[in-house]
Amino acid sequence: MPIYNSIAEFHEDLTEWRRDIHAHPELRYEETRTAEQVSRRLEDWGIEVHRDIAKTGVVGVLRGRGTSELTIGLRADMDALPILEQTGLPYKSTAEGKMHACGHDGHTVMLLGAARYLAETRNFDGTVHFIFQPAEEGGAGAKMMIEEGLFERFPCDTVWGMHNAPHHPAGTITTRPGPSLAAANKAFITIRGRGAHAARPHDGVDPIAVGFQLYQGLQLIISRNVDPLQSAVVSVCEFNAGTALNVIADTASMSISIRTFDPDVGKLVEQRVRALCEGVAAAHGCTIELKYEEGYPTLINHERETELAAAVAEEVVGSAAVDRNGIAAMGSEDFAFMLQERPGAFIWIGQGTEGKDFGLHHPRYDFNDEILPVGASYWARLVETCLPRKD
Ligand code: NI
Repeated sequence: MPIYNSIAEFHEDLTEWRRDIHAHPELRYEETRTAEQVSRRLEDWGIEVHRDIAKTGVVGVLRGRGTSELTIGLRADMDALPILEQTGLPYKSTAEGKMHACGHDGHTVMLLGAARYLAETRNFDGTVHFIFQPAEEGGAGAKMMIEEGLFERFPCDTVWGMHNAPHHPAGTITTRPGPSLAAANKAFITIRGRGAHAARPHDGVDPIAVGFQLYQGLQLIISRNVDPLQSAVVSVCEFNAGTALNVIADTASMSISIRTFDPDVGKLVEQRVRALCEGVAAAHGCTIELKYEEGYPTLINHERETELAAAVAEEVVGSAAVDRNGIAAMGSEDFAFMLQERPGAFIWIGQGTEGKDFGLHHPRYDFNDEILPVGASYWARLVETCLPRKD
């Protein structure tokens, strides 16, 4: 089965909706117009709509034929980015400095396409939850939806996500079991030494010298503590201290970006950073304050669901176009929070066309409308597979 013919028949509608959302991008937690469009369309198709979850999130509930209590959650993100669009397209952003540069306009419409088809055909038995989430871009909208009771209000046996991939050929689908996207954490360090005259270093504790020691120790975490077959990044991206040539500063600050795949490696890196701060402070007689902030966790695909996603993808695009063991990437995704709560899988849907494959978050990026029916068909087929009719 390639893409559903009945979905291909309303490809023009999907394209029109996608371009309309593209022209009206909204930043995280401000997706009111988009949420309104989504809600209105779902209601038009007879789907029960719940609004204002995590501020601007929307959940549509559609029951199939029969009495099955099986449930499924399909998630799309709706937010845009603070980027000045440079595509020159006729449907380019009408909101200066805001842009759908990550294709969430396409994600929203692919899920709408599936909702329309499933509402018309209801060729499944169970309950589908269409989850339209706000604020994927740095706002952890998925987390806020969960905190506001997403999975209690809308029980989901499994939950599924999708993102477009500009560097993969259009019509391909890639996934992988296990850790697939990195956890991104941040550490903020303040070294409190003791200021002194530059000519009398023995009267002070120089926080730059201490920071230099700490910096070297941090570099050794990757080369000496982390298993060489694992991936991790510790990047000191800011290191600030000092105000004058003849003064030894009394404080220095550092900020560090830490990315890991394996949660155990993530814990190891955190422990080492903490131990280094304590040890270096003790060695030099100063204090080192550490604020460790957790960002999005590692996105971990569940094995069984990844198999199932790949099998469904093969039915839609053919086995030659499916990569079940794609490589992991150092980016991060807040769908990871949903996969911590429920089993499920995240897939990449290729959208690259030669000469037009600007990467995600690029000012000339655009979602490729050709793949709208592909994504919608994947969602539809996934529902019909997970919630099969018994009659
Ligand atoms: Ni994105």
